[in-house]
Formats: sequence, C-alpha cells, structure tokens
Amino acid sequence: MEKIKIALLGLGTVGSGVHAILEEKQNLLQQRFHNKNDREVSIKIAKILIRDPAKYHNVDPSLLTTDYQEILDDDSIRVVVEAIGGEKPAVDYMIRAMERKKHVVSANKLAIAKFGEPLVKASKKNNMEFLYEAAVAGTIPILRTIKDSLVANEITKMSGIINGTTNFILSKMTHEQSSYKDALVKAQELGFAEADPGSDVNGDDALYKIAILSRLAFGTWMDLNTIDCKGITEVTPKQIEDAQKRGKVIKFLARSEKVDGKIIASVSPEEIDRNHPLAHVDGAMNAVYLHCDNAGELLFQGAGAGSRPTASAVVSDLFAVVERL
Ligand code: HSE
Repeated sequence: MEKIKIALLGLGTVGSGVHAILEEKQNLLQQRFHNKNDREVSIKIAKILIRDPAKYHNVDPSLLTTDYQEILDDDSIRVVVEAIGGEKPAVDYMIRAMERKKHVVSANKLAIAKFGEPLVKASKKNNMEFLYEAAVAGTIPILRTIKDSLVANEITKMSGIINGTTNFILSKMTHEQSSYKDALVKAQELGFAEADPGSDVNGDDALYKIAILSRLAFGTWMDLNTIDCKGITEVTPKQIEDAQKRGKVIKFLARSEKVDGKIIASVSPEEIDRNHPLAHVDGAMNAVYLHCDNAGELLFQGAGAGSRPTASAVVSDLFAVVERL
C-alpha cells in the first residue's frame, strides 16, 4: 500500500469536514483509487496546522502543530490542503508550499479571486498542481466542468446563485416569513456563513466566486473593482412580499458575460419570474446556469455551503492530485 501523506491547514468548518471524510471514507477512497488507477493508495493526514491545540479533543494530538515550517520541512508531505481561508497567512502558505514542491488544494475563494495570478504562477513555476474546486459553488463540480467537459464551447454568459448563506436567508424570509436577523443566525449555526458573515451579506463572497468563474469561462483574471456589487442587507420583507404578489421572487444573483471583448459582471439581489430556472433553488443550495454556443444551456445545482459538502469537493481535488503522483 502506497501511503500519500498530506497536511491540512486549519480545522474549522472545511478542515474538520475534510478530516472527518478522510477518516470515514478511507476504505471507499482506496477502493475507488484501485478501481480507477489499479494502485493501492491510502491518503494519510500527517500534520494539521492549528492555532490552539487545546481546542481540539477529537483529533490525534500527535498530528497537531502550530508551526508551519514543520510542515514545509517535511519532504514526505506531498500535498497541502489549505482550509484556513482569508488572505493572510493563507496565500503566503500556499505559495511557500508549492516552492517546497508540495501540491496545493484550496477552498479559499478570496485568495484565488484576489491572488489567483501569483498562485497559478507559483504552481506552474514549480510544476505543482493547484486545485480549488471547493472555492466555487460547494459541491457542484463547475470548475472541472468548464475546464474539461465544455472545452469545445464558448461560454457566452452565465448566472447563478453562488452564496449559500444569502440564499438561505432570502429563502427563509420568503417562505417562512423569518426575519433577516434570525435567518442569518441560523445560517451561522449551520456552518454556512463565513467567519465574518459581512462577506456573505454584502456580496464579497459571491463576487470572489463570479470572478473565479469568469476567469475560467473567459480566460482572464478580473479586476474585482470592476464588478458591480450590491448585497442583500437592504432587502426588506415588504419587497419580498410585493415581488411574490407579482409572481416574482427575489434571488441573490451573480452574473457574468463577455460583451465586445470585455467581461461585465455583477452581484446583486434581483427579482426573477417564479418560473425562472433559478427561482426554486432554495436554502443553502447553489446553482450555476451556463449558456454555451455548442452545448446550449446547462443548469447545475447542489449544496453550496457547509462543512461536509465543501469538504467533499476538497477531497475530490485531493483525489485528483494524488492520481497524478
Ligand atoms: N459562506 C459561503 C456561502 C460558504 O455561504 O456560500 C461557501 O463558500
């Protein structure tokens, strides 16, 4: 049995999900690996970077470290899974990992939207994989689909619901007459919201994700300042009710399209017809609606936030990296 050692950075919502899935699904992953690649491989977490070891009682203490250098210096660690989130120190950690010849898997939309160029450059320069399927639309394998399955298409435009927290809040306000505040607290309790939920409700999180999608669909990294962004904080119960009376629903939509060679993208609450394909995507679900020149219209839907769904996408990237080792 080949043992592939990895390090996990962070043991929060995403990191703990990855840890749990790797523990629980070890046999399944080995079996799938064998069926696909005819190799006996096990993926083993060798180190977990955390801030405060005293906080984690259900994890083998010998795995925990507060010293990133220890991970960098361990040549037997082949892959770093970054689940810290945010800019600092995550971006620096990922670049340093690739410089030390470790592949990187990340769910960090902020880091990728803002620092995608240097991160991809580091991956190419060091000939390391850098995969981040979990950063956009949770479980929906949308990045891989755009990169691989739709390679014979120009994507002409796309729209979607790509923030679970805000979709959860608007759905609760629409269907259960919940208050904005109660719905937000519930979304936090369920592990959908960011550490700073301001990033969800003011639209930044969706903005990062539409920038990443645009980069893959249209080939250029976006200047984030060019994306029109309006959050959901000013959506009132009355607006929701009025829209419903007119056969509409308010959804928090991200859009992007290429017009005369320029990418026009936005993130904003919008009224859509109740028969629109995105109108019934409720709760923390995400959906991405693509318009392609050859394939036509495609709609993808799946859990967009939460520990296990996001970790499921991370582990799938991890599996893909390990396949190439
Ligand atoms: N806070 C994010 C959301 C988590 O609600 O969509 C997943 O990226």
